[in-house]
Amino acid sequence: MTNALMSNRWVMSERPDGSVSARHFRREAVPVPIPTREQTVVRNVLVSVAPHARAVMQGDTYRLQLRAGELIPSSIVGEVVAAGSAGPAVGTLVAGFSGWEEYSVVPSSSLRAVTMPVPLPNYLSVLGLNGLTAYFGITMVGAVTVGQTVVLSGAAGGVGHIAGQVARMLGARVIGIVSSDHKADVLQARLGFDAVVNRTSTTFDEDLRTAAPDGVDVYFDNVAGPLLRRVLHQMNKQGRVVSSGATATYDVRDRVDDGGNGIIVPMIARSLRLEGFLVADFAEHWPAATAVLHEWVTSGDLIVLQAVHEGLETAPTALLDLFTGVNVGQTMVRLRPDPPFTVD
Ligand SMILES: NC(=O)c1ccc[n+]([C@@H]2O[C@H](COP(=O)([O-])OP(=O)(O)OC[C@H]3O[C@@H](n4cnc5c(N)ncnc54)[C@H](OP(=O)(O)O)[C@@H]3O)[C@@H](O)[C@H]2O)c1
Repeated sequence: MTNALMSNRWVMSERPDGSVSARHFRREAVPVPIPTREQTVVRNVLVSVAPHARAVMQGDTYRLQLRAGELIPSSIVGEVVAAGSAGPAVGTLVAGFSGWEEYSVVPSSSLRAVTMPVPLPNYLSVLGLNGLTAYFGITMVGAVTVGQTVVLSGAAGGVGHIAGQVARMLGARVIGIVSSDHKADVLQARLGFDAVVNRTSTTFDEDLRTAAPDGVDVYFDNVAGPLLRRVLHQMNKQGRVVSSGATATYDVRDRVDDGGNGIIVPMIARSLRLEGFLVADFAEHWPAATAVLHEWVTSGDLIVLQAVHEGLETAPTALLDLFTGVNVGQTMVRLRPDPPFTVD
């Protein structure tokens, strides 16, 4: 490894002042640093595209707000091309977190080995952070049980389509919220959702009442915003809101202040419990959950949907798609073909 190796990457050019667009991103080539003893250089095969990348362009999340010139963050999957003495062997396939770039130099301790011989996109979807978010959100935070009615927003997205299927496998009645008939068809015909409601319909409240005539026991919320208040009004006593994300508040100039914005009264009146969580809260259980998810995919019980864009240059457009509701399944960008499967 020499300093001559260059890496293309996307950085934020300026903080968006409203909806994000192509001009808020800049592509540049930078030299790949030589790894320290504790670092590994990964040649990325795939990088994820997630609403969080937009959120952190605007303000702090669980990580600090991006400044102009900083790398757009994402999960990565790739092949080790160099490592310090404590790192994995060259040629090993690994998953981790860095950003939209060809080569990532990351702490070796932050990488997970790719141990299952599956197509690498699975490591950014069902076996990655979003699959784990879906799994823990439904099983641990929502504590979904047989016969309950579970409603999910962003139901055709990376987290939502897996969370809905996990709830279905636990014996729940599953209702998705999406913005297009195409997504509704996919969720019902292919993934076995019991019903789907279109959030853009003028009859949304009635449609949800028809789909959930006995009320909602668990709301797995990926988007927050005005939809949260509307679903709260249809929740059963002692229902649970699993607060996974707030996508509806990410692509705006100033974050919506949800405090008291019409949600408190229905929460008190129905004795609701709203619980936020981060997938990292369950890090010690990731290996066991990954094994379960892998088993479900292998048996055909869980279908994984992925929107794979080709070439690093497509990453900003792929992100914009998340806010126009175009994407179905987990969005990611492929930089190069899957290498042969090897483990350290
Ligand atoms: N808690 C955690 O540890 C954790 C981990 C990973 C991800 N997350 C969160 O989980 C959420 C889902 O992530 P994802 O990667 O699966 O994204 P995604 O669902 O694949 O994509 C975003 C979807 O959100 C919906 N949407 C966009 N703008 C909206 C708006 N203004 N109002 C309502 N819905 C809107 C769209 O679906 P429709 O148009 O079909 O409604 C869009 O397809 C994100 O908020 C993310 O930050 C949390």
